[in-house]
Amino acid sequence: MENIIKDLDIISPEQDASCEAAPRISVESNTGKARKLYIESYGCQMNFSDSEIVTSILHENGFDTTADLESADLILLNTCAIRENAEQKVRHRLKHLVGQKKRKPALMIGVLGCMAERLKTKLLEEEKIVDMVVGPDAYRDLPKLISEADEGQKAVNVFLSREETYADITPVRLNSNGVSAFISIMRGCDNMCSFCVVPFTRGRERSRDAHSIVAEAQDLFDKGYREVTLLGQNVDSYKWESEDKSEKVNFAQLLERVALVHPDLRVRFSTSHPKDITDEVLYTMKKYENICNYIHLPAQSGNSRVLEIMNRTYDREWYMDKIRSIRNILGEDCGISSDMIAGFCTETEEEHRDTLSLMEFVKYDYAYMFAYSERPATPAAKKYTDDIPEDVKKRRLNEIIELQNLHSRERNKRHVGKVHRILIEGTSRRSENDLCGRNSENVMAVFPRGNYQKGQYVNVMVTDSTGGTLIGHIVE
Ligand code: SAH
Ligand code: SF4
Ligand code: F3S
Repeated sequence: MENIIKDLDIISPEQDASCEAAPRISVESNTGKARKLYIESYGCQMNFSDSEIVTSILHENGFDTTADLESADLILLNTCAIRENAEQKVRHRLKHLVGQKKRKPALMIGVLGCMAERLKTKLLEEEKIVDMVVGPDAYRDLPKLISEADEGQKAVNVFLSREETYADITPVRLNSNGVSAFISIMRGCDNMCSFCVVPFTRGRERSRDAHSIVAEAQDLFDKGYREVTLLGQNVDSYKWESEDKSEKVNFAQLLERVALVHPDLRVRFSTSHPKDITDEVLYTMKKYENICNYIHLPAQSGNSRVLEIMNRTYDREWYMDKIRSIRNILGEDCGISSDMIAGFCTETEEEHRDTLSLMEFVKYDYAYMFAYSERPATPAAKKYTDDIPEDVKKRRLNEIIELQNLHSRERNKRHVGKVHRILIEGTSRRSENDLCGRNSENVMAVFPRGNYQKGQYVNVMVTDSTGGTLIGHIVE
């Protein structure tokens, strides 16, 4: 099976395997600060983006960063709790760090992010080597928590905030190729999908000041970046109001403001929720060439009963109508991707086949696909039994993956024989002589280097495709 998703915890659109990978760990910075921070991120892009905020805070408070675990004075793991195996991964990592701490007793270890928020002080009891547990809204408190830990106390702050957006903090770009960056536009989630831990780990939804978002996009453009991705769990419910209430900005309006920063700045966004995405957003996408023709619109299931007990608040018909609107307004070419969960509580074979048939209807360009993993204290864990046997979940998941692979190949074929505008992101992993970058629909293309470099736009004639990549050459 080609292109099978091995790492089910990496869930947000990220760089294709054929392109230079963005680092998940901190990069080296040597500005003569007293101590070294090593930070490693798990989970979604929101977490990666938060690690950039954490690094910024600690740069101001006596830390340089390092990519070398051995030379670190402080190790931070920014963790994910979305599925059981996401947490397992962190537990294994912590076991691995035990030896490290024995060799260097002054070494401090902190757990940040969603797993920290979910487990709180329990994490200190269960994982003895952890010195600090810090939730996603408490990063400004890190310098204080570090000094507490310096004095030998275990330090914890897991308060969730209704206001914190870190709007004034300029992130230190860790996960970036210098071309494409993420901008967090909101935090938290108010949706309460029954399977999901995010509302508990990230708290209430809040939108960041629109001016600070536009200023960040402008600053990135001035520094040579050519693509920004606006991030939120549910970007369509972005809603910001100025303090004097004279200015109100919804997501479509924000998108327009960011698109107006410069025609050469590509704008992407993630994630859209099927219940909230509006035609206004679709028309704004159509109006601006530099807003990419790509929407991540997670369905989760193709069956209305399952969607109802998932508390997604839309049904199959509603979802299909949204797809029709996208096709009507933005055309057949608009890239669409999804998230799917196989084997949610009580899902029957027939209901599973509805997911497959919805996929046939949409023909997604790409999808992130998962077996249901029960998360303690979520509404689904309280109300329903996780009753689909593991082997059945796996089989259903594999059917979903196989069908998606077929669709990805089919959809990518439509790009062959056409010229695409590609933003060069870097050197191809497979060959030093090739460059790589995406088209507007978010598909990665690989092509011989010529005299070009990352950050430039080129026209690429696509001559071949696979399920994951387009192959071509630059045309003048
Ligand atoms: N806010 C986004 C996604 C956040 S989590 C949205 O609403 O779509 C990313 C994906 O992880 C979800 O879309 C879902 O497909 C998956 N996921 C969340 N909780 C899960 C669970 N308990 N088991 C399996 N997959 C899960
Ligand atoms: Fe979770 Fe649903 Fe919120 Fe997405 S919209 S983060 S799936 S509760
Ligand atoms: Fe993201 Fe995982 Fe938290 S998906 S929001 S890091 S639970």
